[in-house]
Amino acid sequence: MKKNILFLCVLVSLFGNNCMNSAEDVTGSEQNNVSYSTQVQPIFSSRCTSCHGTNGGLNLSSYSSLMNSVGNSYGTTLVVAGDADASGLVDKIEANPQFGSRMPQGGTLTGDQIQTIKAWINEGALDN
Ligand code: HEC
Repeated sequence: MKKNILFLCVLVSLFGNNCMNSAEDVTGSEQNNVSYSTQVQPIFSSRCTSCHGTNGGLNLSSYSSLMNSVGNSYGTTLVVAGDADASGLVDKIEANPQFGSRMPQGGTLTGDQIQTIKAWINEGALDN
């Protein structure tokens, strides 16, 4: 019986920790049928293109420039259509990216903005 209670406590504390760690990134609401032109590009235009506009590497000024971008660290996996978790761009807008600092540099996107970008990628990263 004692063992069972201990096990429960471990489970609860694991689960509790998990919730706390991810709270920051999952506060946005789930979204469907995201449009690149009316929902995703406006986020990039207001928060990213001041730095990722015209130079080589990552260019977030349009759908085609993004999809043709090759990152320094993430190479061609910046956007993996259908798989937000495998996309370097998503890694960079969430906490603790694999390379460098969280984007946008010096700030963060809102939970809803992050969910919008992730949903768009998971729905196939369409030019819609
Ligand atoms: C103030 C300038 C600035 C802004 C604004 C900014 N970035 Fe960055 N970004 C950088 C710099 C500098 C680097 C390289 C250093 C690093 O990775 O931390 C970078 C690197 C990246 C990379 C890695 C590319 C690679 O593979 O090498 C991605 C992806 C990225 N930014 C996405 C974004 C997104 C998405 C936004 C908007 C939400 C954004 N950035 C806004 C300056 C900026």
